Formats: sequence, structure tokens, C-alpha cells
Amino acid sequence: MTDIRITDIWEYGEKWAEIYDAYPAHPSAADAEPAADLLAELAGAGEALEFGIGTGRVAMALSARGVRVTGIDASPAMLDRLAGKPGAEKISAVVGDITATRVTGLFDLVYAAFNTVLMVLTQDGQVACFANAAAHLRPGGHFVVEAFIPDFTKLAGTGADLVRSIDEDGAWLLRTRHDPMAQIISSESVYAGAGGTRRYPTTLRYAWPTELDLMARLAGFRLAERCADWHRGQLTPASRNQVSVYRLD
Ligand SMILES: C[S@@+](CC[C@H](N)C(=O)[O-])C[C@H]1O[C@@H](n2cnc3c(N)ncnc32)[C@H](O)[C@@H]1O
Repeated sequence: MTDIRITDIWEYGEKWAEIYDAYPAHPSAADAEPAADLLAELAGAGEALEFGIGTGRVAMALSARGVRVTGIDASPAMLDRLAGKPGAEKISAVVGDITATRVTGLFDLVYAAFNTVLMVLTQDGQVACFANAAAHLRPGGHFVVEAFIPDFTKLAGTGADLVRSIDEDGAWLLRTRHDPMAQIISSESVYAGAGGTRRYPTTLRYAWPTELDLMARLAGFRLAERCADWHRGQLTPASRNQVSVYRLD
């Protein structure tokens, strides 16, 4: 991969679904528990909608806390994985695009975990995502966005290749390319093992928290809370992840 390759919205899920829950560099199910605690507090007795529900990593934990969860995802393969999990029958999930798809009803909480808003690859699309969240919320409802914070030192180069992990079965390699004007990071995780080589693409349009705040304001939100992680850790200049809670007034 020498150039930036822009993935289609369904492509990530179609490629990743088979290994999503096992990939070593992904947030684990353990990370989903504090996420579900925070989200359940915000949902209260109400209902939640997840943008990019994927295999249900967070949705399952939230549903287990008694919150009724609906989800939208571009990838039928990811939703198939979700549907195969015990307890998934309590979750209603549809194939759709988080920038445009409307599901029936109004919610008290909409959330997008693990960089899902950043998987929308244009600023207009991300703005539409905030507007779509607002359209699904009751007044006073919340939109929670988890998004990584870019690291200047790593973005500075035009590309990087690194080894993520190696064990006796094989190695995970990561290849990234960066377009600073489009704010696009395109990466490919490559697994090389005894069974051959498999490639898993991811493309993200990063946005600084201040840009996310502006998108939120355009949609009628105000920032209610921002922390470094789902445990409500304090955000610092060194933070590489953030969880923003926006309230619809
Ligand atoms: C990084 S995964 C996160 C999955 C899950 N929320 C989690 O935390 O484990 C992002 C998910 O968003 C979905 N997705 C990406 N862009 C989308 C879009 N425009 N509309 C709907 N789903 C999208 C992908 O198919 C994938 O399942």
C-alpha cells in the first residue's frame, strides 16, 4: 500500500467482522463494561441508539444493564456476528448509514464508541452524523462520542510501518498513511501466519475535540462533559482518547 486508500463504508465491517472481537489491538470487552456504566447512567430509564453498533461489544453490556438498545451499522457481516451472541435478541439492529438513516422513535441517548464518527470520511458527513444524532433525541438527551486524539509526533511522517505483535502463530503488522489536508489516516492491519496473509483496512478522518464541538453546536448540542476514557479519567495534554458527552438543549 503506497497511497491513501479510501475504504467504502461497508468494507471495514465486511473485512473485520471475522476477527473483530479477537483482534489484540482493539478495545476489549473489559473496556465495554465502564462504557456501559457511563451510558446506562445517561440513558436512565430511557432507550439508547448506538451509531455503528458493530458486533455489539458495548451494546451487549448496556443491554445487560436493562437499557433497551437499538443499533445502526453499515455492515451486515458485523450485525451477523452480533445476532449470533446470546442476549442479542433484546437488541434491535438495522443496516444503515449513521449520516442519514432514521430509525423509528426518539431516544434519550445516542452514542458512537471507538472512533465510529471518525469512520465517516468527510467533514460534511461528520456534521450530518451529529445532525442525525440530534434528530433521534428527545430534548435533554445526550450524544456520546468516543474518538481518539491524534498524536502530532506520529502524524508528522507521511507513513509508518510497524509490528504490533508477534507470537509463535504469526505476526500482526500495521501500515499507515496520512493525508494532513484531508485529515485522513488510512491503515492496513496485516496478519501473517501459518495459514497465510490477511489484510484488514481501516480509514479514519480524525477531528480535534474542538472541531467535534463545533459540529455538535451546529446540531444544537452543547458539551456537557469530556473525559479521557470511559472511567471518566481526567483529560490531559497527553490524552490520546476522549469521550465527549453532548447534551441536546
Ligand atoms: C470501530 S467499529 C466499532 C464497533 C462497536 N461500536 C464497538 O465499539 O466495538 C465501527 C463500526 O461502525 C460501522 N460504520 C462505519 N461507518 C459507518 C457508517 N457511515 N454508517 C453506519 N455504520 C458505520 C462499521 O461497520 C463498524 O461496525
